[in-house]
Formats: sequence, C-alpha cells, structure tokens
Amino acid sequence: MARITASVYTSHVPAIGAALDLGKTADPYWQPLFKGYEPSKQWMRDNKPDVIFLVYNDHASAFSLEMIPTFAIGCAEQFNPADEGWGPRPVPKVIGHPQLASHIAQSVIQDDFDLTIVNRMDVDHGLTVPLSLMCGQPDAWPCPVIPFAVNVVQYPVPSGRRCWLLGQAIRKAIESYDEDLNVHIWGTGGMSHQLQGPRAGLINREFDNAFLDRLIADPAGQAAVPHIDYVREAGSEGIELVMWLIARGAMAEGRAPKVVHRFYHVPASNTAVGHLILENT
Ligand code: DHB
Ligand code: FE
Repeated sequence: MARITASVYTSHVPAIGAALDLGKTADPYWQPLFKGYEPSKQWMRDNKPDVIFLVYNDHASAFSLEMIPTFAIGCAEQFNPADEGWGPRPVPKVIGHPQLASHIAQSVIQDDFDLTIVNRMDVDHGLTVPLSLMCGQPDAWPCPVIPFAVNVVQYPVPSGRRCWLLGQAIRKAIESYDEDLNVHIWGTGGMSHQLQGPRAGLINREFDNAFLDRLIADPAGQAAVPHIDYVREAGSEGIELVMWLIARGAMAEGRAPKVVHRFYHVPASNTAVGHLILENT
C-alpha cells in the first residue's frame, strides 16, 4: 500500500529560481533565504520519497483565460519546464508517475471532486522553484513528480475548505494504491504578497505566522477561513496559501504531525517566504 509520510510547504517566488540559475545564492540579499533551506535539502537526502505529489498553481504558462481548470492532475510520462519569457529554466525535466496519477484521478473523481486530466503540460516556477529549493541543482530530480495545478489566479478560486477536503480525498486515493510507495505531498505558493495595484508590495508577518501556527495545530479551523480574508490580509496573491491546505488535508487525521523544520523570511523579491516540513507520526 502507498502511504504519505510527510508534507512540505514552501513559497515559489520566480526570482528565487533566477537567483539559483544565475549563481547568485551567496549574494548578501539571497544568502539568508537559501540558508533557511539547507536543513531541508539534507532532510530530502535523508528521507528520499518514491513519488512527490506537488500541489502548485500555473501562472498563465500552461493555461490561460482560454481554459481555466480549477483542479488539474498531470498524468503524463514527463513535463518540461515552461518558457515564462526568458526561456525555460535550466532544470531537469519532470518525470511523472502516470499509473499513480491515474489511480488518484479515478479515486478522487469518484469521491466527487471534479479534476481535469492533463496529458500534456509544461510546468512553470510554481512547480520548479520548490523542487530547486528542496533538491538544489541535480542533473535529475530525485523521484517522479505528479503535478497538481490549482486555479488561484482567475476568480472564482476554490475555498480553503474545499482544498482541505480534497486533500483528504487524495490521502484516501494514495492509501488505496496497491504498490508500496513512500509519497510526499507538497503545497506551494504564498505567503503574503501582492504584485499589482495600489497595495503592491504588501507583506503581513502577523497573518503569515498565524497561518503557519494554525496550519500545524488547527488546520480544520484554518480551512474555515473564507478566501476574501486571504486577499484582505495577505494580498491578492496571498490566496495561493489555500493550496497548502490540500497538502495538510492529506496528512494523517487526529494525530499531531512532527514539525521537522519551520522557516520564515522577508523579503524575496516582493514576497514573504514561508516554509514548513511536517512528518506523519
Ligand atoms: C512572484 C510570483 C509568484 O508566482 C509568487 O508566488 C510570488 C512572487 C513575483 O513575480 O515576484
Ligand atoms: Fe505564485
């Protein structure tokens, strides 16, 4: 039986990918940020999963206003890094896990969540920056990755509550897969940031740290927070944080997770960076 042993949460700011790709990680501006992920890279080496189920959002790279799936599961054999305007990032292609992805699609759709099946898709910074932060700059990513894209870009977006319940359905799906696989689930995006309009540059440390506290200790309570509170408190792009509730919902119920690592840093570009590693106990 496959099982979820851990969840990882991290912001996915594109400038972090550029800093890595351009060799700037030791610059005074970036050094404190990358230092915060040193324990995470060691943890990844010590706890290599068989598959990563990676929840992220596409930023108008694979999808556009022409087609807006709320939840999309990548079932392809592989996914190439997207060209976001400066050419594709020089990172490994992403190897998928079509068998497990198809099984999850079957189970979760029969559990009443409408997923879009994607058999061809490029993956943007939302997915590749977290892999870079957790794995560094290898020739190949350490294991297959199932991309799971959530629409948090174009309204209407899914509620935190729906994301939380979807995470539970994903856990049930993974636990009903026959093969003995160690699966990690990642939630990405956030934390507080607003990229546009009069409030561009907004950061809210209090909101972010309360979110981290509650994601750990009271995720069901956090799941009840309406989307408009994220927008008001954490900025228009702060709504990306609802994706963390999918990963948290997939963790074991009724047992406190072990907090392996917690990190918070401001700023990266114009965004607050948050990061957690939780293990099932
Ligand atoms: C930026 C973009 C993102 O998708 C994000 O999550 C944070 C920051 C940016 O363009 O700076
Ligand atoms: Fe983003």
